[in-house]
Amino acid sequence: MHVAVPKEIKNNENRVALTPAGAKELVKMGHSVFVQQAAGEGSGFSDETYQAAGAEILPTIESIYEIGEMILKVKEPIDQEYHLVREDQLLFTYFHFASNEPLTQAMVQSKAVCMAYETVEKPDKSLPLLVPMSEVAGRMAVQKGANYLEKPLGGRGILLGGVPGTLPAKVLILGGGIVGTQAAWMAAGLGADVIIMDVSLPRMRYLSDVMPKNVKTMMSNEYNIRNLIPSTDLIIGAVLVPGAKAPHLITRDMLQYMLPGTVLVDVAVDQGGCIETCQPTTHEKPTYTIDGVLHYCVANMPGAVPYTSTLALTNATLPYVLELADNGWEHSCIRFPELKSGLNIIKGDVVYQAVAETFDLPYVPVSYYTNHH
Ligand SMILES: NC(=O)c1ccc[n+]([C@@H]2O[C@H](COP(=O)([O-])OP(=O)(O)OC[C@H]3O[C@@H](n4cnc5c(N)ncnc54)[C@H](O)[C@@H]3O)[C@@H](O)[C@H]2O)c1
Repeated sequence: MHVAVPKEIKNNENRVALTPAGAKELVKMGHSVFVQQAAGEGSGFSDETYQAAGAEILPTIESIYEIGEMILKVKEPIDQEYHLVREDQLLFTYFHFASNEPLTQAMVQSKAVCMAYETVEKPDKSLPLLVPMSEVAGRMAVQKGANYLEKPLGGRGILLGGVPGTLPAKVLILGGGIVGTQAAWMAAGLGADVIIMDVSLPRMRYLSDVMPKNVKTMMSNEYNIRNLIPSTDLIIGAVLVPGAKAPHLITRDMLQYMLPGTVLVDVAVDQGGCIETCQPTTHEKPTYTIDGVLHYCVANMPGAVPYTSTLALTNATLPYVLELADNGWEHSCIRFPELKSGLNIIKGDVVYQAVAETFDLPYVPVSYYTNHH
């Protein structure tokens, strides 16, 4: 199969959908790999490293879409790419269709096959192609929080781990899922006093089994949150209620009870945020202060560490890419049922119910396409 990788052109997107290591695996299996010039540059992979792995470098995005039977991307195509997408071409990337009507319409019209990373879902409901980015964001949340707690950056001026003879900083993590767990490991490793709040008792039992001594768990409710905030230095928002906006666990009025220079990192900002005063920010201007409390609410945190993010993402996508290249999407969906849930649009039909409902488009069950194989 011809597998083609365009350079991402969305603003500030430095990740790339395939590494030289991935290109080598595809070539070894007899596939042809085409990579747009400088596609890997932002993640630290030169054209030469792709060539050495057996890929061919093409100069333009047009030539990539022209030759590719499968287009591998990170972010959804943007409007100047819409007309390049061809009938029957397989696109494997993050799409987030439900929040983008023009994209949905354009992909319906293209008659391409759109498989979305974010809806690839295993029978146990886990999302294998979202997990790596949550891991990156969770670990980064503590790195950012520790940094912004420094006085010159607006923080309280407390060192996360303290030093002998001083108390360490107190970190409160709201939500003990993927993001919260990774954040807890990092904060605990730096020596902070960490509390994870969640509403799931089984999850907290698991966390209290595996976490080090300086991490405690506590039921998430307003009473407990109000009790803790006057003595907390860093609060990390990591709540997710699937399919819904995040609940506001930290409300506007709570800010007045926090210590001046407290830092709030709301990782859940992409789902509306679990801190009421949180507004999405960018890597260019990541923070703002309200009532002396510093807010960091960057919606695409993994974008700041493209080297790690690209490797983390492609570690998760590559097995599926190899399968799709070898067997085509119809057969791959039988061998890996989670790929079936990744299908959103097939040859002009919306096959993902939530997307069809959001835009009032006709819905065709995916089984219409996959059952006769
Ligand atoms: N900003 C970014 O760059 C970025 C990157 C990756 C993920 N995210 C976001 O981070 C959020 C968390 O993702 P995740 O992968 O950890 O999700 P997850 O499903 O693994 O974990 C969410 C946790 O929140 C808990 N929860 C639900 N309601 C709660 C409540 N009221 N109080 C406390 N806990 C509650 C759940 O029990 C679960 O353990 C999501 O909104 C995700 O989209 C943001």
